[in-house]
Amino acid sequence: MMLARRLMAALTVAIFCIIAVNAYLRVHWASAYFEADRQSDEHLLGRVLELAVRNVWENEGEEAARYLVRRADDSIAAVRIRWVWLDEEANADQRPIVPFDYEHPAEPDNIVRLQHDEAGEPRRFAYVPIVLNGKRPAAVEISSSLIKQRGYLRGTVVQASITTLTITTICGLIALALGYWWVGQPIAELSRQAQRVGRGDFSSRIVVRHRDEVGQLGQEINAMCDHLAEAHRRVAAETEARIATLEQLRHVDRLKTVGQLASGVAHELGTPLNVIAGRAKRGLKRTQTVEEQHETMEVIAEQTNRMTTIIRQLLDFARRRGPRLGVRDLRHVTHGALDMLTPLAEKRGVAIRIREYGPVAAEVDATQLQQALTNIAMNGIQAMGGGGELRVTIESGFAAPPVEHGASPGEYACISIEDEGAGISADQISHIFEPFFTTKEVGEGTGLGLSVAWGIVREHGGWIDVTSEVGRGTLFRIYLCPAVADAAGAPMPA
Ligand SMILES: Nc1ncnc2c1ncn2[C@@H]1O[C@H](COP(=O)(O)OP(=O)(O)O)[C@@H](O)[C@H]1O
Ligand SMILES: [Mg+2]
Repeated sequence: MMLARRLMAALTVAIFCIIAVNAYLRVHWASAYFEADRQSDEHLLGRVLELAVRNVWENEGEEAARYLVRRADDSIAAVRIRWVWLDEEANADQRPIVPFDYEHPAEPDNIVRLQHDEAGEPRRFAYVPIVLNGKRPAAVEISSSLIKQRGYLRGTVVQASITTLTITTICGLIALALGYWWVGQPIAELSRQAQRVGRGDFSSRIVVRHRDEVGQLGQEINAMCDHLAEAHRRVAAETEARIATLEQLRHVDRLKTVGQLASGVAHELGTPLNVIAGRAKRGLKRTQTVEEQHETMEVIAEQTNRMTTIIRQLLDFARRRGPRLGVRDLRHVTHGALDMLTPLAEKRGVAIRIREYGPVAAEVDATQLQQALTNIAMNGIQAMGGGGELRVTIESGFAAPPVEHGASPGEYACISIEDEGAGISADQISHIFEPFFTTKEVGEGTGLGLSVAWGIVREHGGWIDVTSEVGRGTLFRIYLCPAVADAAGAPMPA
């Protein structure tokens, strides 16, 4: 509506100016016309009277001339004509009402014209000097009222003002109505439609009422809405199809994982079950000695233990319990895990070296993290068949998480475990975190250790990074979010 209002205002101001100038010129011309008309009347009357009075005064004397002037005054009602002495000073009745310098008249036709208020009434005076040789200087005074003329001019001004205001108001109202109908309303409709499109509603259309530029714009916007709605429908359909495909893929993936788990469980439990079944059958034979029965029972107990371990690890992998977090010094947590492994490492000729550079605090579940560390360190020990050194470092520093992790680069706590073992080949390294992936002999590995470790670290908001070189060794790095340092410097629990 602002555009319509502005148009209307501009149009109204233009119309007002034109009419006002026209009215002013009319009044100006009218007063100029009056002036010219009067001057011509005064000139004519003055000249005739001058000639007549001059003639009569010269031939018949002063009294006859003055009589002629009185007769002239009586015969013209609208004009007052008087005989005045130009050098008279004492008698007010006989001297000019408006004094003037008669010896140097300014007017070219020798008639002096003056305006004067007489008892509140504006009048115009014209003096026709009659100067005869040897006679007293006299003049004929012709005067008339200006009231009628002024009244007429005032009436003209009032009438012109009323006309100006009326025409301006009417034109303004018409401009407002047309502006609203042609511009304001269609533009408001366009802006409402643009808002609807901005909100993502492509369903409504503009009703095009005028065949002008604004109407064309409305049609274009309608066409644009059609295109947008069509594109929107296409995108929605494509997205739906993509989601369905993803769901299908996820389903296939789930099936694959379940299959892997089932075959892993069957494979891992199959061997001990076979052993148990065989031993149990043998134990049923009455011919067995007490020692033989004892040995059978021992084998059965051992195999049962193995199955219990597998099932416990499976449960660990699938555990529902979230970590019970607390701020811990990672040095203590790591020592706790490695101390348990030391006897086994020594037996295999592996030395464990721990490097640390000060406290590294992180919010962790100590038991779970120790399990993850044990699984990784255990693999390292197992990988060094001929003995070697397992180097463990606890530190914190700048790190960039993998893209799929989603966190931003920054300061992270890090525990690295490096061995001098056989290393992992490029085609195997992408599978090591899969459940039941193992390259070890039956009884050595279940393929669950790294998947459990990976799950634990992920639940802590961290990630595991692995680099390996076949024949030289493997480096695992566990990254965790560092805990905010305790301002009071209170010692962290182990
Ligand atoms: N430090 C390592 N050196 C060489 N190979 C490793 C190392 N850690 C893991 N692996 C490989 O990853 C596999 C999976 O490990 P893991 O999940 O712990 O199962 P498991 O130890 O029972 O085989 C191992 O079988 C091994 O081939
Ligand atoms: Mg293992």
